Amino acid sequence: MALIVPGPASPVLSERLAQLMSLPRAKVNYRVFPDGESYIRIEGEVKGDVVVAVQSCSPPQDKRFFELLQLIDASTRAGASRVIVVCPYMAYSRQDKVFLDFEALSSRIVAKAIEAAGASSFVTVNIHSDLVLSYFNIKALNVDAFRVVARQLLDKDLVRPLIVSPDRKRYPEAQVVAEVLRGEASFFDKKRDLLTGEITTEEKMLDVEGRDVVIVDDIISTGGTIANAARILSKQKPKRIIAVCIHGLFVGDALKKMAEAGVSEVVSTDTIESEWSKISVAEAIAEVLQGMLEG
Ligand code: R5P
Repeated sequence: MALIVPGPASPVLSERLAQLMSLPRAKVNYRVFPDGESYIRIEGEVKGDVVVAVQSCSPPQDKRFFELLQLIDASTRAGASRVIVVCPYMAYSRQDKVFLDFEALSSRIVAKAIEAAGASSFVTVNIHSDLVLSYFNIKALNVDAFRVVARQLLDKDLVRPLIVSPDRKRYPEAQVVAEVLRGEASFFDKKRDLLTGEITTEEKMLDVEGRDVVIVDDIISTGGTIANAARILSKQKPKRIIAVCIHGLFVGDALKKMAEAGVSEVVSTDTIESEWSKISVAEAIAEVLQGMLEG
């Protein structure tokens, strides 16, 4: 038998997966000690079962990550035959390589720890860099949710949609969204100062007047990348600017910053659960899980 073990960061997605896949959900007792340490206990039998542990590593990342390790450890101790980790948002994946000498290779640390805790396989959604998957020795799969997101945008009756990636690296994803929406795709060139973290986006004229523009990115963190792109686009008189991402971290005043730059709507998915996570990636994950459970 297989069952869902929900982590404290992903109760909604866990429930959606359990319903879609008709799997039972284990009861998990989470507590935080007065000094801030986390406690996790699986209540009930998982002996011989395949556990699907669902936990996003959204902010506070380090705490969520440690809870994920606890879920894996508790599942193996409780006798699970396999532990499939579903980590819809994998923190630290932007540190996928060493950019400056003597930096910690954070994403590799995360991968190695998940493996060492006892995971048998790993599933994530739109990981920032595929390189991170190569740091696992266990099976590690990435689910692409950009088509799911694009299909949801079809309801918005977009006018001559232009899908813009705020960074050349995400242009392929913008093209996927444009294909579903029967629109066009374009991109900006963005640079990040490795020491200060400051972002600069090159000005570029695009054919946006009177059109609905959808800016797509994998992650929105401080909102700086989207705000830069939106400021350039706003000057060119689009009808609307909508910002869409898979992982909405929305740190600090990110939403205000994007709104001030001309973004009228922000949409994200339930890889990180919040009031903006209007699109669910559950079906896309369930499809991959089904194959793993049958295989
Ligand atoms: C970076 O390369 C990512 O794809 C996102 O563009 C970035 O993480 C967004 O961060 P922020 O919202 O802080 O600009």
